[in-house]
Amino acid sequence: MIKTVGVIGAGTMGNGIAQVFAQAGLTVRLVDIAQPLLDRARKTIEKSLSKFVEKGTLTPEERNAALKRLTTATSIDELGEADYVVEAIVEDADAKRALFTSLDAVVKREAILASNTSSISITLLGAATKRPDKVLGMHFMNPVPLMPLVEMIRGHATSAESMRIASDLCVTLGKTPIEAADYPGFIANRILMPMINEANFAVMEGVGTPEAIDNVMKLGMNHPMGPLTLADFIGLDVCLAILNVLHDGFGDPKYRPCPLLRRMVAAGQLGRKSGRGFYTY
Ligand SMILES: NC(=O)c1ccc[n+]([C@@H]2O[C@H](COP(=O)([O-])OP(=O)(O)OC[C@H]3O[C@@H](n4cnc5c(N)ncnc54)[C@H](O)[C@@H]3O)[C@@H](O)[C@H]2O)c1
Repeated sequence: MIKTVGVIGAGTMGNGIAQVFAQAGLTVRLVDIAQPLLDRARKTIEKSLSKFVEKGTLTPEERNAALKRLTTATSIDELGEADYVVEAIVEDADAKRALFTSLDAVVKREAILASNTSSISITLLGAATKRPDKVLGMHFMNPVPLMPLVEMIRGHATSAESMRIASDLCVTLGKTPIEAADYPGFIANRILMPMINEANFAVMEGVGTPEAIDNVMKLGMNHPMGPLTLADFIGLDVCLAILNVLHDGFGDPKYRPCPLLRRMVAAGQLGRKSGRGFYTY
């Protein structure tokens, strides 16, 4: 029975993931490297829960109870009690592997270790631990409290039992789990990122302005949000990291990250989170 969940990384995704677990009645410990990041995450969660209260989908008592179930910590050493851990740190294979090795040493043997990675091999992360049968991908979508899908990734050694427990947990969160095999980018980003990348090339080559490109996809293809608005929302650094994984993993030039995307990331234009990307915020 899963009662206590550890969430590591309190950024865009981690705070949303911590929130949905706390809302579903689980005890949550959110970990990041510094207290100010955790304080900011807590504020974001408070704001998001209050929006649900304003909309009438959550009572003030439920909001307060969810917040009470959420504690923070600056070290994974505080995760000894966790039955289930979700990692949501930077999209970097070396950083994630190092974290999984450390986690394996501090979290109890029977606990499942999940990664929210957008594209990195779950098999590789499992191999960094002594419990590869209990390592899997649990890929939430942004914004986590609103999006119904969780892409579930089975690594080469992940057991059927671990996948079952994790999928049941998704249902407890009110989400729909869909399983994908462990290939770069899984299903979601293998299809989404080439479109975002192509939209970048279209800007670079002057085919259209960002507004024109986004409006073509919205009005012509019925997408709720254009690809460049979505890229800003995801984070251009995250998009670049995923495209690099696709490009390295498949060795296919069709995944080559657009030079304009590389240049914007190098300039610190990361989208919404930095105040500037294809648009200004
Ligand atoms: N942004 C999206 O739309 C999106 C969607 C789905 C999945 N993801 C995936 O989720 C993960 C996190 O992405 P994000 O957008 O939230 O990133 P982010 O940059 O917003 O947040 C990452 C957080 O992790 C923390 N961190 C880094 N190393 C750490 C460590 N060793 N221990 C503890 N904390 C650490 C950072 O301080 C930061 O607060 C990535 O793997 C990404 O690919 C992102």
